Amino acid sequence: MNFKNVVVAAMALFAATAQAQRHEQEIKAWMFSHDKENWEQVRVPHDWAIAGPFDKKWDLQVVRIEQNGEKKATEKSGRSGSLPWIGEGHYKTTVSVPDGYEKAMLVFDGAMSEPTVYVNGQKAGYWAYGYNAFRLDVTPFVKPGENTVEVDLRNMEESSRWYPGAGLYRPVTLVLTGRTALDPWATSIRTTRLSQGVDNHGKTEEQAVIDFSTLVKDVEGDVACVIEIINDKGWFETGSHIDVPADGVINTTMTLSKPKLWSPETPYLYKVRTRLYRDHKIIDENITSLGVRTVEVSGDGGFRLNGKTRKIQGVCLHHDLGPLGAAVNKAALIRQIKLMKDMGCDAIRTAHNMPSTMQMDVCDSLGMMVMAESFDMWIYPKCKNGYSRFFKDWAEKDITNLVLNHRNHPSIVMWSIGNEIPEQGDAKNGVMWAKRLQDLCHKLDPTRPVTQGFDRVDNALKSGVAETMDVVGLNYRTQKYDKAFKTTTKGFILGSETASSVSSRGVYKLPYEVKAMAQYPDGQCSGYDTEYCSWSNLPENDFEDMDDLPYTIGQFVWTGIDYLGEPTPYDEYWPSRSSYFGICDLAGLPKDRYWLYRSVWNKNDHTLHIAPHWSWGKEMTGKNVPVQVYTDYDEAELFVNGKSLGRIKKHNAAADMQKVGKATYIPDLDRYRLRWMDVSYEPGEIKVVAYDKDGNAAMEKIVRTAGEPAQLLLTADRKVIDADGNDLSYITVTMADKDGNVCPLASDALEFEVEGQGTFKCVCNGDATSLEPFTEPRMKLFNGQLVVTVQSTADAGAMTLKVRRPATAAVKAKGKRKAVAAQPAIEASIDISTKHLGARIK
Ligand code: GAL
Repeated sequence: MNFKNVVVAAMALFAATAQAQRHEQEIKAWMFSHDKENWEQVRVPHDWAIAGPFDKKWDLQVVRIEQNGEKKATEKSGRSGSLPWIGEGHYKTTVSVPDGYEKAMLVFDGAMSEPTVYVNGQKAGYWAYGYNAFRLDVTPFVKPGENTVEVDLRNMEESSRWYPGAGLYRPVTLVLTGRTALDPWATSIRTTRLSQGVDNHGKTEEQAVIDFSTLVKDVEGDVACVIEIINDKGWFETGSHIDVPADGVINTTMTLSKPKLWSPETPYLYKVRTRLYRDHKIIDENITSLGVRTVEVSGDGGFRLNGKTRKIQGVCLHHDLGPLGAAVNKAALIRQIKLMKDMGCDAIRTAHNMPSTMQMDVCDSLGMMVMAESFDMWIYPKCKNGYSRFFKDWAEKDITNLVLNHRNHPSIVMWSIGNEIPEQGDAKNGVMWAKRLQDLCHKLDPTRPVTQGFDRVDNALKSGVAETMDVVGLNYRTQKYDKAFKTTTKGFILGSETASSVSSRGVYKLPYEVKAMAQYPDGQCSGYDTEYCSWSNLPENDFEDMDDLPYTIGQFVWTGIDYLGEPTPYDEYWPSRSSYFGICDLAGLPKDRYWLYRSVWNKNDHTLHIAPHWSWGKEMTGKNVPVQVYTDYDEAELFVNGKSLGRIKKHNAAADMQKVGKATYIPDLDRYRLRWMDVSYEPGEIKVVAYDKDGNAAMEKIVRTAGEPAQLLLTADRKVIDADGNDLSYITVTMADKDGNVCPLASDALEFEVEGQGTFKCVCNGDATSLEPFTEPRMKLFNGQLVVTVQSTADAGAMTLKVRRPATAAVKAKGKRKAVAAQPAIEASIDISTKHLGARIK
């Protein structure tokens, strides 16, 4: 690792033609300490808590969770992840600044939390909220040559409802410019209209109207601003040339002919290059991505992207990246977004806070719409030391930075000013703040609608807070959709947070039962996808609302991927330290629910998935084991050892709904799933054959009873990664028998070793009850699988990941102890090559 921070020219892309003065340097090499006495070298982004150890004592909360309808306080051990994120953290580094720069700015994309920044020993600034980007003008403190930068952070106990991470977990960048300079946060580039226009030859053509505005700071002399829109081949498309007025304010409109539009299906990006010239010399340059697209939401067209109505198929995601913690990493973000896209998901909600810039860049490039959120609480606290401490003084500053930092990302289609804010029922303060924050969003960005997610729907309707919003978002409470639609004047409803079904990958509880808040001695939930929370529902409730209620504009499922903390329904159970809500587990491995959503959402590829596994052990022979199939086909047939159990068709409309209590109803499970409820277990194989509309066999899938574990199968998400010292490859490790059948219950302890140009980064098996650290090269399989993450070094070459299950000796039976047979070692390896690929998003 290179621990010296040196200045490099950031705008290499177009620098060949110009000596632009702007220099941007990501500051990666830092020293870290908890006590300012013992320091260690770290690389930022960094999360000081993710290595653990897990312990229930960290942030142990004795609380009553009001939002979950609890009546008395109880001990919640895993609520914020059981990792050591509380306390102080200190970072220091030196940066060298060449002569000739007139302005210096430090840009933090987020620092957890309450960062106080010092430059050369002088206090340069402070920011309260750990999730927000902020910039400090450090010009008065910086000198040419070596400069010290120090950051003090502190995290208070009971300040979060989930794992927030700890430290400089997002990039820190030093920006050096001349005195007259562009300001990316003052720049707004937006598509205001897509329409028919006339080209230079008088012919009608599609056109996009692009509004550009910026503020040039400290204009000195005659300065010209040249704006160019460049396509993905690097060719000039259109542009504008302006003599910068003394006040620096620039507003211009450009017309792009035959624009290639941005959408999740076609994430086409242009570049906007803005240059300042004085005396024919370039004095500053800035490059921004531009996705040409429009967003509207209304009663008649619902949610429209580029004029086309679509229902949002979204998921909520917390910011942590499982075993990497909160430290952002582009490869990890790309993997998440690709995984969600393959499911048919087209939008994410950044629950419940500001996203990283890196995540928004990935969403722009890969085509993922985003609801960018801000707060989980306003003035009324949801936890003792949460953001309520700051809201009154900081809310407007925080919304300002959110919008200014991110408004040029085409992926963002909506802002959210809050999640389940207790003030939603307050006709005075609730309405006042909702209006104030929404107006601020509109002022800084007139193109996007603003929402917030309501859980106390009746209160929000009565107080007028719901009506205040551009978009009325309901969290769960599907039974209130109709009332909300009729009570508000908008003409549409968004499912801002839906489902909160719970499950564990590869765990199937018998008997098969639909249940709220089910708990079992092993701390797991059923993979039959029949369990949910007292306030929430099954995926089908939301599918029905999207399919049957014309006024719904989409949903955001809680959540796409498991996250650290909030282990509902095991909030009071130990050990349990991460969520069960995810459609994928914490390792990013799909649970069964992934295939249910995919079968409904993914319209390009077929899905056929069988649950459960078929390795139940002899004692289960003759017992009833229901079989459930997720497929986009309407009809399928199940065979057990070659014997047909009949063809089943999906119900094509909602059957009568059974109302259960006040909170929810059990939906018709045979509308989106195919279920054979009476299946007598016998070892062997189950096969499902799906039939197309004409009744022809179209696809089949077989699951076999597995024999003894005999081999480890390794598959990498990417076999070639960038030799930048930061890129990652995710390797899924699966235990299989000698014929390649997955051993679905294997829990063998494995060891890992990386040789060559790479390092072991982390490992995760998706088991919410595991206390094995993510950062040690050993872990048990959870239901036959886990995922190892390896990282490149800065040198190109190749690395080999070796995975080993060590041999174990036989154990004789004694008293109550059962005999265990000796096990041979099992080994496998995989090669990953590392190349200098450049910074492109792949
Ligand atoms: C919601 C809340 C989320 C999460 C979820 C669990 O009410 O907005 O943050 O707590 O419940 O079901």
